[in-house]
Amino acid sequence: MSVALRPAETGMSWRTFTRAYNADRLGFLNALPAIGPVVRMGANLVFVSDPALIEAVFRGTNTDFQMTLNRRLEAVAAGRGDAALEAWMSARRRATSAVHRTATDGDATGQVELSHQIDAWTAAAAPVSVVEDLTRLNLRASVRLVAGGPDPGLETGTLALLPRLIAVVDDGTRLPGPFAMLVRRHRHARRDDQALRDHVLALADSAPGSGGIVGELAGTEVDRATIANLAVAMLLAGTLVPAAAGAWILALLAANPTWQDRSRADPEARTSVINEALRLYPPTWLISRTVAADGVYAGWSLRAGDEVVISPYVSQRDPVVFPEPERFAPERWAGLRPGIAQYFPFGAGARRCVAAELSLRRLDELVQQVLRRATRLSGGFPRSMSTTSTLFPADLRVRFAD
Ligand code: HEM
Repeated sequence: MSVALRPAETGMSWRTFTRAYNADRLGFLNALPAIGPVVRMGANLVFVSDPALIEAVFRGTNTDFQMTLNRRLEAVAAGRGDAALEAWMSARRRATSAVHRTATDGDATGQVELSHQIDAWTAAAAPVSVVEDLTRLNLRASVRLVAGGPDPGLETGTLALLPRLIAVVDDGTRLPGPFAMLVRRHRHARRDDQALRDHVLALADSAPGSGGIVGELAGTEVDRATIANLAVAMLLAGTLVPAAAGAWILALLAANPTWQDRSRADPEARTSVINEALRLYPPTWLISRTVAADGVYAGWSLRAGDEVVISPYVSQRDPVVFPEPERFAPERWAGLRPGIAQYFPFGAGARRCVAAELSLRRLDELVQQVLRRATRLSGGFPRSMSTTSTLFPADLRVRFAD
């Protein structure tokens, strides 16, 4: 019988670890594979870059590896057969088919909004900061998905909640439930979260069957709390994250003019540019799960309660799969089919992003329309990036020449 492997220890104190991590989060994580494929960073925190264990984590999600933190980083029950998890998964199934329908039918309003936005970018005399504009476009698209049409209340509610949650997530102090409420930023996040949920529930009451995911779920077996959870999750996940993806793609195109020309003419080149941008800069750069029970997983000995952390930013820089990993090289995608543990900008397994296909299609529309309407993109590559909950270019300015 083979002996179970144990995660490598960093030998760092928790204090040294948090200091080094916060000084340069991506650089810190990127250095961990050199210590070992599985590294214990703190009593319960385990960083994983071993592809076999990553695959086991994705395949075992909801059973051996659970999502036990909600958006506010509060602990949630997630045991096997847990009622809330079952309800989430059934709501998610219904929502996923509605999202697929949008992906197939297209979003005519979104296309028009995008074309107006690109015209405004090309008309601007100075380079423009695209992240905010893309955030607004994506928010409106997610509101249409959730509500079936425009809904200013959902828009303002999401815009209020998003920065509050980012502050809570970034805070790093994970206080248990009642104690969290003593911290002002937790209190404010909770208040805005409740307001947005109330708005979703009013929508569910007033318009069952009216199109949109909320209308579709209202009147089914899905309970009200789950409808609100899913709608709010989609509004939050469908706003800054896809905007960040779009911004990275535009930044990389602006810095690589030959790929502008290739992508204008060739749909495969566009797909390769998008894949490569999501490889180098996956907006959701950290994924975590909690180990349900002591055991040996893909040969590694893990303990119940361990928080397993996986980073597409790190894994997608494995030089064996992606030679010269730091280089933007869309041509590498010709014939490349990485496994689920090697390339996972949308996650994998039971909790994979509900809108992955839709998002890829939207990103393709963005590139296509930009290259059709603007002759030349230029601009310096961003010098800094935000590494709060979402990886996005912090000081990106792109010039769109008509
Ligand atoms: C380029 C765009 C996007 C990227 C890169 C992305 C990435 C991801 C990733 C990595 C996860 C899994 C997280 C984990 O395993 O812990 C996820 C989950 C999720 N995403 Fe996306 N996402 C994108 C767009 C969207 C959009 C547009 C929506 C909604 C309109 C959305 C809704 C969700 C939801 C609801 C989940 C949670 C699924 C669950 O826990 O069961 N995402 N996304």
